[in-house]
Amino acid sequence: MNPTKFYSLRSVFKLPAQLQAVVVGTTLAVSAASAGSPPLPRLVQQDGRHALIVDGEPYLILGAQCHNSSAWPSTLPAVWRELGYLNANTLEAPVYWEQFEPAPDKFDPSIVDQLIDGARAHQLRLVLLWFGTWKNGSSHYLPLWMKAQPEKFPRMISKEGKPVDSPSPHSPETLQADVHAFRALMKHLKQKDPEHTVIMVQVENEPGTWGGFVRDFSPAAEKLFAAPVPAELTTKLRVESGKNWTDTFGANADEYFHAWSVAHYINQVAAAGKEEYALPLYINVALRDPLKPGPATTYESGGATDNVIDIWKAAAPAIDLLAPDIYQFEPEKYLKVLDLYARPDNALLVPETIGMTPFHRHFFDALGHGAIGWSPFGVDHPQMSDAEWLTATQSPDYGDAGVARNFRLARAAMRILARINYEGKLHAVSEEPGHPEAIFPVQRWDAKLTYGVPAFGSNHKAQGNPKPTGGAIIAELGPDEFLVGGFSCRVDFLPRSDGQAQREFLRVEEVKVNGNVLEPLRIWNGDETDYGLNFATTPTWLHVKLRTF
Ligand code: DGJ
Repeated sequence: MNPTKFYSLRSVFKLPAQLQAVVVGTTLAVSAASAGSPPLPRLVQQDGRHALIVDGEPYLILGAQCHNSSAWPSTLPAVWRELGYLNANTLEAPVYWEQFEPAPDKFDPSIVDQLIDGARAHQLRLVLLWFGTWKNGSSHYLPLWMKAQPEKFPRMISKEGKPVDSPSPHSPETLQADVHAFRALMKHLKQKDPEHTVIMVQVENEPGTWGGFVRDFSPAAEKLFAAPVPAELTTKLRVESGKNWTDTFGANADEYFHAWSVAHYINQVAAAGKEEYALPLYINVALRDPLKPGPATTYESGGATDNVIDIWKAAAPAIDLLAPDIYQFEPEKYLKVLDLYARPDNALLVPETIGMTPFHRHFFDALGHGAIGWSPFGVDHPQMSDAEWLTATQSPDYGDAGVARNFRLARAAMRILARINYEGKLHAVSEEPGHPEAIFPVQRWDAKLTYGVPAFGSNHKAQGNPKPTGGAIIAELGPDEFLVGGFSCRVDFLPRSDGQAQREFLRVEEVKVNGNVLEPLRIWNGDETDYGLNFATTPTWLHVKLRTF
């Protein structure tokens, strides 16, 4: 059933006086409201936790990235269509250098403008992806006039002296051209977008080098490689200064040098863009195996893989965060990546990931790691007619149905979730295959999740779901008071400290979340609460108050 219709139907019934809407704290919103025009989106940090502030309040990116060649007028209708289906609140879309600067210093912002106008018309925010010098380690998005001058805008040189299909980070001409174009983009955004429809920009796309080429061996690179390691890096890594790369880093010297070179280059592009318009900027990362990494020849060398995060932080202060593109199917690896990139000095953003069921469940894990956003990749299907697409999306097996459900749950509550996560009071997990039960501490309770068909009686054995699609969010609203939502699981709370104490559900209200307001729909009791709170596949929020007896 269409949720909007459902709620508007409900609203014709008058609520009994015992059920009263509750406003959940809005301190940050109040400070923004007094500021007048919408403030610039920005990242904030407190006690090692992060929030993306949009319109003065923490914002959660419920994102969706279109395919690489879909940010064109002919394909954007399919993008908007899919974003609506997904209940996403943010589109991640590329800006192609080859299209944006078709001739030197001649800029064509027409597609950027269409993206911004389209996003506004569909009540969406935008994260723009600058497909500049690097796109997946190559330089395929350089404008034709640059491709025609390979001597001026060179590729990397291999150890054997051959050109590699990856741009050299040691070319001052390419750097200047990218700085110039990115400046033009940010300047245009500032002028076109006072409403801040665009909330972040990704600088380049998965920078680094594939194919077993760990670094550039051009004469310019060789000269720098033989010189002392820059002091910013030796200080950050607390290693002896004044020595060259090989003497400082031994077997890691080639990779570290490349990471530094790529990051240093991108920092200059980002810093120039920020001078024009200071939006939050990030780069995305093609990961290495987080549990059993091979040598740098086996992954994209030079990108911000987990082993060189500190190098990137030292080299690229104008980049606000390093964001992992998570295409790991094994849950241990997925969770490990979240651990590696959620750091006090790095806000966790998953800008690309697998959206297919059952991997959509990792949205919960990202939230549980404090993420400011999560976004599946390649969501649009421009080759489908509207009729084909409508038929496909009616099927419960439609690949992104799980993402659509997750986002339907989260979208209404997104301000609350983002704020409570920033306060460090949000708990969220997903079902791990082979683990039908999960227990984790929440205040004085052990939250207990059981996955699979819930049975009556408190001592039934959980079986898990046929596919691991369960997940839950517990947001602390106050002592013993929670907002709880989830899918395909039962949630209960066990008193942790005192062996004699038992849990009592003082009040469980099913609520419609409307911004920062919880509007009660009904009270859950009896079968609905006696053995825990059962979540099926309909997005449901519960306002829960507990006590012990
Ligand atoms: C990661 C890249 O960042 C995307 O642009 C796209 O190429 C995907 N890989 C393809 O799976």
